[in-house]
Amino acid sequence: MKNALKWTGIVIGGLLTLLLVALGAMYFIGSSNVERTYEVQTASLTLPTDSASIAHGKHLTEIYGCADCHGADFSGQVMADAPPFRVVSSNLTSGAGGVGAHYTPEDYDRAIRHGVKADGRSVLIMPSAAYHKLGDADIGAIIAYLQQVPPVDKELPATEVRPLGRLLSAGPFDPGFEVNMEPARVDVPAIGANAEYGAYLSSLCAYCHGDNLMGMEQPPGPPGMPPSPALAAAGQWTLEEFMTAVRTGMRPSGIELRKEFMPRFPAMNDVELAALHAHLGTLRMTSSDT
Ligand code: HEC
Ligand code: HEC
Repeated sequence: MKNALKWTGIVIGGLLTLLLVALGAMYFIGSSNVERTYEVQTASLTLPTDSASIAHGKHLTEIYGCADCHGADFSGQVMADAPPFRVVSSNLTSGAGGVGAHYTPEDYDRAIRHGVKADGRSVLIMPSAAYHKLGDADIGAIIAYLQQVPPVDKELPATEVRPLGRLLSAGPFDPGFEVNMEPARVDVPAIGANAEYGAYLSSLCAYCHGDNLMGMEQPPGPPGMPPSPALAAAGQWTLEEFMTAVRTGMRPSGIELRKEFMPRFPAMNDVELAALHAHLGTLRMTSSDT
């Protein structure tokens, strides 16, 4: 009896030691994933100064949802403060605590199109992978617009990956998910209600709907994110139906798209939606789309 207890103790002790060693190793691997730095070759950008380009930059920030996270005045906010992470969207203005006063165009570009912050580490949560295919003129317009938004003084705490988040970063959570080291796109096709411009805009949709908008089993997003459908079928809707669905989330069937998973794009204008619709119309339907 005594012997059995002793052996049970040894086995449990051994298992606990193994567990601690495994946790230690995970913490170590996760931490090095979090601390990893990336060196990106950014494009050399010439920022526009004319009011039409700056207005276009403002419009792009609306389509691409920047204010959803950075706030209507771009002063940033604490987006999540949970046991694994504290995620803070940066103050993008030139006020106290903002990056605007000292960021160069390259610093913005590195963060927005490549997912890498000025200190070389990856951005968390910000969907830079969806912005990688923006062309130089468009990213230039966005930066030029941001540089002239009114300064807001707001000091925010830093984004922080806590011990639990570091453990998760060894496996299920990939802190480098948004990083793309490839050179970003150079040209921007001429704006027009055609499939070519639609293909350009669709990089935003491809973030969740996958390459060629074929749908994804596991799109990036909050827990419980459902698979995203292929978009060829929506290319067969009327333009009117498609515009309503993308702007408001109401499908022609009357079944609303769930807003926690499929964003609305109320800022997209008629030309942009017609372009996207034209592009979707060129996609091949597969048997599962009907
Ligand atoms: C889903 C939320 C979200 C969206 C949408 C988003 N951002 Fe961010 N952004 C963040 C977060 C969070 C950070 C800070 C990331 C970190 O600290 O790891 C950040 C960081 C940045 C930075 C880097 C600042 C720094 O501190 O180094 C810039 C620049 C930036 N965002 C610009 C933009 C622009 C421009 C857009 C739209 C094209 C945009 N963001 C869209 C959440 C978002
Ligand atoms: C953050 C991820 C995400 C992004 C970005 C996104 N979608 Fe979606 N989309 C989804 C998900 C998830 C669904 C399924 C939602 C549901 O079933 O309620 C969906 C559904 C749809 C549908 C319904 C298709 C059908 O056949 O019923 C359309 C149309 C659509 N998206 C268009 C777009 C367009 C156009 C863009 C880019 C401008 C876009 N989506 C960007 C996640 C996304």
